[in-house]
Formats: sequence, C-alpha cells, structure tokens
Amino acid sequence: MAQSVLNVQFLILIAAPLAISRGNSVEKEVFVESGSVAVLPCLVSSPYSSPAIQWKKVIGNDLKTVWRRDRSGLEFRSVGKVPHAHCPKPNFREGDYSLQIEAVREEDGGMYYCVVEGNIVDIKVMLRVIKVSFSAAEVLEGENLEVTCSITPQPNSKLEWKLSNSNIQASTKSLMLNTVSQKESGTWTCMVWHSVQRNLLGMSSASLQVKGVLAPKDNHAVVYAEVGSSVSLPCNFSDGLILNSSSWTKVSSKNSQPVALPSSFKMSSSLANPLWDRSALIESVEEADQGMYKCSGQMERADKKRSVERVIKLVTTRVLSSSRSGRLVLTCELSNTTDVTHYEWLRLDYGENATETLTPVQKSTSKVLDIRKSEVKDLSGWVCRFYAQQRLLGNVTYHQSIMSTLKVQSEPGSSKKIITVIGLCLLSLLVLLILLQLFKNHRRKKMIMQYPAMETIVHLAANERERRERSKAREKELKGCCSGEQKAETV
Ligand SMILES: *[C@@H]1O[C@H](CO)[C@@H](O)[C@H](O)[C@H]1NC(C)=O
Ligand SMILES: *[C@@H]1O[C@H](CO)[C@@H](O)[C@H](O)[C@H]1NC(C)=O
Repeated sequence: MAQSVLNVQFLILIAAPLAISRGNSVEKEVFVESGSVAVLPCLVSSPYSSPAIQWKKVIGNDLKTVWRRDRSGLEFRSVGKVPHAHCPKPNFREGDYSLQIEAVREEDGGMYYCVVEGNIVDIKVMLRVIKVSFSAAEVLEGENLEVTCSITPQPNSKLEWKLSNSNIQASTKSLMLNTVSQKESGTWTCMVWHSVQRNLLGMSSASLQVKGVLAPKDNHAVVYAEVGSSVSLPCNFSDGLILNSSSWTKVSSKNSQPVALPSSFKMSSSLANPLWDRSALIESVEEADQGMYKCSGQMERADKKRSVERVIKLVTTRVLSSSRSGRLVLTCELSNTTDVTHYEWLRLDYGENATETLTPVQKSTSKVLDIRKSEVKDLSGWVCRFYAQQRLLGNVTYHQSIMSTLKVQSEPGSSKKIITVIGLCLLSLLVLLILLQLFKNHRRKKMIMQYPAMETIVHLAANERERRERSKAREKELKGCCSGEQKAETV
C-alpha cells in the first residue's frame, strides 16, 4: 500500500520520466538532449536524517559507483565514469536524492541505480541521451549529407523530424539529403515519441548552415527597380571558405546566352565590402536592363572546388502618364508581371515640414488609374503598389507637379550655364590665338638661329652690293661734275 502511494507520488512529481513498478523496484526512464543537464530522479523516504547515498551505473556486466555520500557527509565522485555527476545537498531534506549530470554525453546513457540507506525500494533510472548529428561538420551546396538522430541506448519509440518548425515527412533514424541547398539550412529537430502512449519523451536539435550563396537563398529572387533609380543585386557568399573567383553576367531569358551588362553596372569592390559580399549595383536603371542576372563563384574547401551560382530576375518599373480631354491616365508599367496579382494606387500629398500623407485611391487588378484633372492638386504624387496575393512586392512613385516645377526652376539656371559656356569658349579661343602667335615667333627665331653662317653671308653679300652701288653713284656724280666744270671752263 505504502509502495503504491510512493509510486503515485513519483508520477506526480516527475511527469516526464516513465515509472514502471515491479514488486519492490521502481524503474524510470529519462530522455535528455546531449549537452544539457540530466536529472535522474530518486525520491525516497529514509528513516535517517543523513543517510548514506550511492548512485551506481551498469557498465558492461558490472555496477560501478558514480557518486557516493557517507553518513558522515563525505562525498566521493568517480573520476572516469560520469565525472560531472553529483547530488545537490539542499534537496535531501525533502527526500530528493536525484542525480544531476552536467553536459551529458552519449556515453553517459544507460541504467543507473539509486541506493539510499534505510530505503527498501529498489530505484532504477534508465538514462537515454538524444543527439542530432550531421555526417560532415561543414557542407557545401550541392553536396550530400546525412542527418542522424541517435538515442543511446536505443528504445522502442517513434521519431518525428522538424526543420525550423516545419514538419518533415520522415520517421527514420537517419535522413539522407541529396544535393543540399540553402533550404536545408536551419535547425534540425528530432522528437522522440512513446510508440504506444503517444506522449513526447524528449527531443534534440542541431543547426545546420549550408555553405554557398546565403542571399539570395534560391534562384527565384526577384528585384523590382524603378527606371532611373539605383538598385542593388544581392549576392552574399558564406564566409569561412575560400572564394576563388566570382563574376556577374546577364543572361538572355530566351536562350540563356550571356549578353552585355548595363552601362551603369558596378560590381562591388572587395575593398569596400567584406570579401564574401559580391553584391552588384546598377546606378541608374534603364528599361533595357530588365532580365536575368547570374552571380557565380567558385568555393574551395580542403582542395575540393565547387561552383555555386544564383540567378536573379530584375523587373523594371515606372509610371506612364498621358492626358486627354481633362483626364490624367497613369499606368503602372512593369517589365514582368508574372508574380503580380493586383495593384494599389495611393495619392501622395506633402504637408508642412515635408510630411507625407498617403490616401488610398484604388485597389484592383488593373494597372491603370484614370483621374479627372481637377482632382490633381499641386505638389502631389501617386504611388503604385503591386502585390502578389497579400505580399507587397514594391512600389513606384509618380510626381507630376514636382517634375514640372523642377523643369521651370532649371530653365534660368540652364541659360546662365549657356552664357558661362560661351564665355569660356571665347576665353579659350583668345588664349589659343595668343599661344599660336607666340609659337610662330618662336619658330621664326629658331629657323634663323639654325643658320647663323648663312645670315652672315646674306648680310655680307647685301653690304657688298650696297657698297658697290654707292661707289658707282659717287663715280657718276664725280664724272657729271667734272664735265660740267669742263663745260664751264670751255665756256
Ligand atoms: C513644423 O515644424 C514647426 C517647427 O519646426 C512646428 O512648430 C510645426 O508644428 C510643424 N508642423 C507640422 C505639421 O508638423
Ligand atoms: C516604397 O518602397 C520603399 C522601399 O521598398 C519603401 O521604403 C517606401 O516606404 C515605399 N513607399 C510607399 C509609399 O509605399
């Protein structure tokens, strides 16, 4: 009678462990995740205020003492077997002689006996350690991997698997993962259920990070970019591995052949970004930039090389406007609408201090917004949001008034610019002319300098000619005067 009361007490106090009573003994089962603290229950009444306690474990065919306490209070710990085990003393007053094992390992699993002096019930505790492990410490995208849930010692139970809170349709001890992808990254949980009673006995988890391209996770990434804006195409490789090379290409959606990258396409420099961030930037998106982009890289680990890649779809967005007979028609234009289920139009008004207010105008599967011109207020815009079911994919903004005011404002500025440009042209022309003149002078000097002897000869020849002409003239003069004299003499 007293025994069954005791058993009931056990069941109430320890809900999780199973208790099986056989005659003068109580057997319990404890499931503990590897690495955590195991508590092996032993709640008994003893006539002694400070009884001798002994915890033993079945090792091979023997019973080995794991932890012991004398009546005097002296404690003995085992050195080799289950070294982190002990009984916390404060619990003794309530008749709780449970054994605690810190950082439990698989080899700690097995049958334990709790012996308390003066207690007539034989207490056995079966400790089962659950551990989730992977066949490789590190796995790259495309490789194979095995996930195993081991329970030591193995009981007769049912298994259930979860990956990051979603159920996996498998109940085997081991799961073979072929060509691992980022989908397999996350926390793998193995749940152990009682095969008959269907209650949860215990569970264990381990997290897996698949090396490769961490973002985007798969080839279904879509990036929406407004024409004229800048957009980043993400490509983040996992760190810790050698990234041999990486590149970006644009591929034709028709035949998957590489085509030219946009003119404002910039691969991020590895200096500005961490080595594994190979995201690219299109500084000013044009309509022709829409399409498929591929980021690829080669990763190396222990002499094994593996190429990983991601394809990203770029969808360009813009608002087209047309006005006719007092109406403004706006069209939310996307280069690819396969994911879009509906559009939402909102009016954007600017209040004081540049505060923005959005007023929903229309929500429908139509991409067109048709409004009366009289509804168009100064300095307001329209936002087109596009959705895939309930998920917002992106938005485009249309500013009519702001654009027109910007145009007006820019005009006097541009005429000033023209004047400046003309002035600069004239100035440079003047400088050019001066320089040309200087150059001409310089060349002439240089030409003369090249032939100094010739200059002298020319000079000498000229002087000689001059001298001769002069002497001839004098002779003539002399002759003329003499004949005159003669004439005079004859007269
Ligand atoms: C705008 O800013 C001024 C001071 O900076 C403040 O007094 C005023 O309340 C603000 N108005 C709005 C609409 O927030
Ligand atoms: C439009 O999208 C950008 C970025 O996706 C977001 O920051 C912004 O708030 C959105 N604007 C509206 C009006 O929804």
